[in-house]
Amino acid sequence: MSAKIIDGKAVAKSVRDDVAAGVAALEKDHGLVPGLAVVLVGEDPASQVYVRNKGIATREAGMRSIEHKLRAETSQDEVIALVRRLNGDDEVDGILVQLPLPDHIDANAVINEIDPDKDVDGLTEVNAGRLVLGKEALVPCTPQGSILLIKTVMEDMSGANAVVLGRSILVGKPLASLLLAEHCTVTTAHSRTRGVEEVCRQADILCAAVGRPEIVKGDWIKPGAVVIDIGINRVEAPEQGPNSEAKGKTRLVGDVDFDAARAVAGAITPVPGGVGPMTIACLLKNTLTAARRRRG
Ligand code: GUN
Repeated sequence: MSAKIIDGKAVAKSVRDDVAAGVAALEKDHGLVPGLAVVLVGEDPASQVYVRNKGIATREAGMRSIEHKLRAETSQDEVIALVRRLNGDDEVDGILVQLPLPDHIDANAVINEIDPDKDVDGLTEVNAGRLVLGKEALVPCTPQGSILLIKTVMEDMSGANAVVLGRSILVGKPLASLLLAEHCTVTTAHSRTRGVEEVCRQADILCAAVGRPEIVKGDWIKPGAVVIDIGINRVEAPEQGPNSEAKGKTRLVGDVDFDAARAVAGAITPVPGGVGPMTIACLLKNTLTAARRRRG
């Protein structure tokens, strides 16, 4: 058997098209243009790329992108003062503070200053609590995108065994809550889990979010399972020979050994082109949701 490849780019495009239509309707009916403020502290190259891409996608959806780029030496108090100003700015519907923050800043302290109704990353304690309690919440983007991808191949997840590998605040924990809300039987596995291979083999839905390149092997996967690979790992491209063009180059791989897994799974997300594109799409979706709730 060869797994169906879940096309995250196509699903993300359809989410972004829906958001753009919703934004256009909000402007036509209420004269409102949603605004997303992104705060970047320092010059981390990967974060700069993420922030630039978020800005482009925001404008493409017809929303206003407000970017605040602060020096790496900016104090925690200054960042908090900016967040408070954005909380009070009526033009701003969503606030995202790009992580990681420089070491001298307590990310938790900054994130929890964000008005929960503008917290489009879903990372404040208020939104995390709402999610766990099954209340209406702004939900973290990568886990939300993962659920949308599962739904393209599994209409009803009720009663399915779902295993989440990883327990991060950004992905593993909220994803486990979302799967529970879909009535899955949820297991969270992590670095201290005993017999992790066997735990994974029970999964009808296996979500890998540990940031370890290709740690999930083909024989960890139950035949026919839906495999969602949330890892993005940059590794050395294998050398093909002394004059190989691949020498010294890198490539992106997920947490799943894709070639081995696709021979066993029923459906699988590739890396790149799977969960990755869904993160920004869901950020735009959350921004529209926040704008509608605040002003609709
Ligand atoms: N850095 C890497 N991923 C994310 C994310 O989803 N949100 C924020 N704020 N920072 C990140």
